[in-house]
Amino acid sequence: MSGPILEQAPVADRARALEAALRRRHLVPEGFVEDFTRLMEQDWAPENGARVVARAWVDPGYRDLLLKDGTSACAQFGYVGPQGEYIVALENTPTLQNVIVCTLCSCTAWPVLGLPPDWYKSFEYRARVVRESRSVLREMGLDLPPEVDIRVWDTTAETRYMVLPFRPAGTEGWDEAKLASIVTKDVLIGIARPDPAAGGTGGGLRGGGY
Ligand SMILES: [Fe+2]
Repeated sequence: MSGPILEQAPVADRARALEAALRRRHLVPEGFVEDFTRLMEQDWAPENGARVVARAWVDPGYRDLLLKDGTSACAQFGYVGPQGEYIVALENTPTLQNVIVCTLCSCTAWPVLGLPPDWYKSFEYRARVVRESRSVLREMGLDLPPEVDIRVWDTTAETRYMVLPFRPAGTEGWDEAKLASIVTKDVLIGIARPDPAAGGTGGGLRGGGY
């Protein structure tokens, strides 16, 4: 006879309980949670990665540096910190789409991408994008023609990837701020391409169970 099935508490409740337990033992340094919260909510955002991409689109020398040493290129903007010690930029072309995943957990380059979206952390995305990337991208709204190769990059212990999309037609003459406005977190992960028609409204609704 088995006992009742215990439901797992929501992750926010578990995190609060863990924090309370650590505080009771005086293991949380003064201001630590507040500092990290500010970094996550204000400083680490995909707008940072978007600025990096926009600069690479208008400055060939910066683009070369970004592809050779992503960490240094991002540091020029001050985008440094945890999960950003070894940033590698992956260059898309009209016939190549790079996509990022962390099959083990949910790693992203925090300083330039921000925290990962929920769907990125889902077991379904992590398991399926590796095996059936084209179908997964299609379900997420990116229906690539067959001539476009898809390369999936699994985040390793230290490496944090960001996708460098190719500059879309129709953006000639745009300044960096306007270019950056069409580079979203989805674009930086590689499950979307910049859409000049979006006019920088950004984001896209995730469907298909993500
Ligand atoms: Fe991870």
